[in-house]
Amino acid sequence: MDTILVTGGTGYIGSHTVVELINEGYRVVIADNLSNSDIGVLDGIEAITGVRPGFEKIDLCDGTALREFSLRHSEIKAVIHFAASKAVGESVEEPLLYYRNNLVSLMNLLEEMQQRSVSNLVFSSSCTVYGQPDKLPVTESAPVKKAESPYGNTKKISEDIISDCIKSNSSLKSISLRYFNPIGAHPSALIGELPRGVPDNLVPFITQTASGLRKELKVFGNDYNTPDGSCIRDYINVTDLARAHVVAIKRLLENKSRENYEVFNLGTGRGVSVLEMIRTFEKVNSLKLNYSITSRRPGDIEQVWADTTLANRELGWKAESNLEETLVSAWKWEQNYRNKQK
Ligand code: UD1
Repeated sequence: MDTILVTGGTGYIGSHTVVELINEGYRVVIADNLSNSDIGVLDGIEAITGVRPGFEKIDLCDGTALREFSLRHSEIKAVIHFAASKAVGESVEEPLLYYRNNLVSLMNLLEEMQQRSVSNLVFSSSCTVYGQPDKLPVTESAPVKKAESPYGNTKKISEDIISDCIKSNSSLKSISLRYFNPIGAHPSALIGELPRGVPDNLVPFITQTASGLRKELKVFGNDYNTPDGSCIRDYINVTDLARAHVVAIKRLLENKSRENYEVFNLGTGRGVSVLEMIRTFEKVNSLKLNYSITSRRPGDIEQVWADTTLANRELGWKAESNLEETLVSAWKWEQNYRNKQK
């Protein structure tokens, strides 16, 4: 079976994707600098799959190290590129860090792929490229808007870099997957999201509040033009998301792409408000969350959810888990992780 390089494979979405790749029989080599993940994730992957993936600690911004790595791994047939910094607020404070880290790593990777004639790339993109769409649900052909943050801009520029490289190199093929809001954890609770410090994202903040680590969840605004006034997002189960990467890799390896560069939305197609998320979490896990309403968070868009027709039709993929089971998995993971820390 083919070997896949997964950059950022010890991270949140990366680790779940490694599990799905191994389950489908692929060999996996992870390259990760562990800047926002823990080496212990490999134990979780091994416990779930019975296979320990290959791992090398590498910073993709270091072109020499990447070259040496790729010389050692001539078996690699395709790449899934997750490795990137992703904290929106931090990217506003440290834009150069974000541009350097997210773009230099991608350019090094593309150069190396070209050198070694590796021609298949799945790229981890984001619905952030749509900004606040004029029409909902948003399709892949909606205009890409000016990014709200340097992080968002790195996703937009990365997509442009990949598509330009494909125009100049007819053997390169790529699929960019635009994620909506990934949440939840593997049902085994052996891997999950591990935010460092105070979480920015809603679900880790919810689970940490439920576990007593945070005193109170703040809902950022209830005066939006939505049915209950809170923002609406499309929350997608991380294992469903991971499965889409396996489908995309197969599509590239089997030469089934319609064009050398393709883009797909990965979401559920359903918008859920922040207050609905809280209510559902409380209900399915039989607990009460301490929360209050506060002012809007700068840079937040009001509402977005995906039109998933293209991914359904072309990839034969759709989200299968419902919100209830996904929020159960998130809470199970949080409890399991906190218990291990004790
Ligand atoms: C952001 C990024 C997205 C990125 C994702 C994961 C933008 C516009 N979006 O998504 O690209 O992929 O993070 O890193 O750049 N909320 C609260 N209280 C909290 C936390 C969040 O009310 O403590 C609300 C937010 O206002 C928002 C919703 O929950 O309405 C989801 O927020 P979050 O999980 O941070 O994701 P996004 O901002 O949608």
